[in-house]
Amino acid sequence: MLQSNTLKRCFSSTAIKRVGQEIFNDTKFQVTTYNRPNDLCITRGANDVLYDDVNGKQYIDFTAGIAVTALGHSNPEVADILNTQSRKLVHSSNLYYSPECLELSEKLVDKTKAFSGQFDASRVFLCNSGTEANEAALKFAKKHGIKKHGSKKQGIVAFQNSFHGRTMGALSVTWNAKYRTPFGDLVPNVSFLNINDELTKLQSFIHSNHEQIAGLIVEPVQGEGGIFPVPAETLIGLSQVCKANDVAVIYDEIQCGIGRTGKLWAHSYLPKEAHPDIFTAAKALGNGFPIAATIVNEKVNNTLQVGDHGTTYGGNPLGCAVGKHVIDTIANEQFLAQVSAKSEIFMDRLQKIKAKHPEHINDVRGLGLMIGCEFKESPAAIVAKCREMGLLVITAGKTTARFVPPLTITEENIHKGLDIFEKAVAEVYA
Ligand SMILES: Cc1ncc(COP(=O)(O)O)c(C=O)c1O
Repeated sequence: MLQSNTLKRCFSSTAIKRVGQEIFNDTKFQVTTYNRPNDLCITRGANDVLYDDVNGKQYIDFTAGIAVTALGHSNPEVADILNTQSRKLVHSSNLYYSPECLELSEKLVDKTKAFSGQFDASRVFLCNSGTEANEAALKFAKKHGIKKHGSKKQGIVAFQNSFHGRTMGALSVTWNAKYRTPFGDLVPNVSFLNINDELTKLQSFIHSNHEQIAGLIVEPVQGEGGIFPVPAETLIGLSQVCKANDVAVIYDEIQCGIGRTGKLWAHSYLPKEAHPDIFTAAKALGNGFPIAATIVNEKVNNTLQVGDHGTTYGGNPLGCAVGKHVIDTIANEQFLAQVSAKSEIFMDRLQKIKAKHPEHINDVRGLGLMIGCEFKESPAAIVAKCREMGLLVITAGKTTARFVPPLTITEENIHKGLDIFEKAVAEVYA
């Protein structure tokens, strides 16, 4: 018995090694758009740990696949749903209804309202990725503006430090020039404002130009830009001026939504008057299975007609079955309370690390398990040192280390991971 187990183990590790080597040889077939460490090849995961069986290493994961695997890696319930649903129906297209698609849409609307999100949420467009959800949001806002006020009202207001995706529409409202400028002409009529400007200045820009502005898009917590929670007063003030001028308010909740901040949506912290007309969700919705949603109120839906938008895969039963489970699990007061409790552990320890390195760490900020530790310079060396010691962390913006672990991370692994982070900071700045 023992012998055969040993044999099995040997066999499987040799097989993985072979697969791993092939993966490394195959990197020459990948387009040149990523800069990945070449000493790391993830082969499997379990909740908050990722394994590299090629190199025989394991890592505590503070990245959750960029804020995606909220319910942990290889979640057994998600795996069961994928298995069962894939034996039932994977795809039938949007030509026909499927129960899973209808049920997920209803659930998104109902749970949003029940968990203090968009009070007039009403309809859902299901698609496959964050950028696609934003693409739909921008089209819907433009359609609303043009249909109700004529073709002049089609511009979009976005913000400095924003990230909304890589397809042409979403890219057009993404701030980082490095992402935009190599691609020539993008969607016109986009104005980038500075969210930290005086509120009256922002309001006055929107009011004076309202005849040309169809929508305003903002992340309630800016993610890729460096983890900046937007103050509630700013979102309230922006919503007021947008509502007064019939500008559709779009909240991009792709990174900060679905429990990440300790509420179902980041905008669940806001009063009703600051709720959006449209908001977008993706990342955690499928716990790694690609699915996304654009949720709108009736005002926006009233200007849409059959044929305005579409997708082949969006709303497929497989993704929707997973999405239903994710929403059911996370839209739960106890689940959300444990996110906030874990956030306090992170914040408390990171503040202590900051206090030890005042000359290197500028700020610790965030909401829930979307936390940034801003350094005075690039934290690239710290990220590399953490990796060397068994912790995966990513950056946000130029100077911020970002912590977006699975929402199911154990307290033990929060502490173990932060021990590594603390040691890495100490070693890099020794
Ligand atoms: C706030 C936000 N919007 C949009 C996107 C794009 O999502 P996707 O990569 O799924 O297209 C991201 C991805 O990081 C994001 O963080």
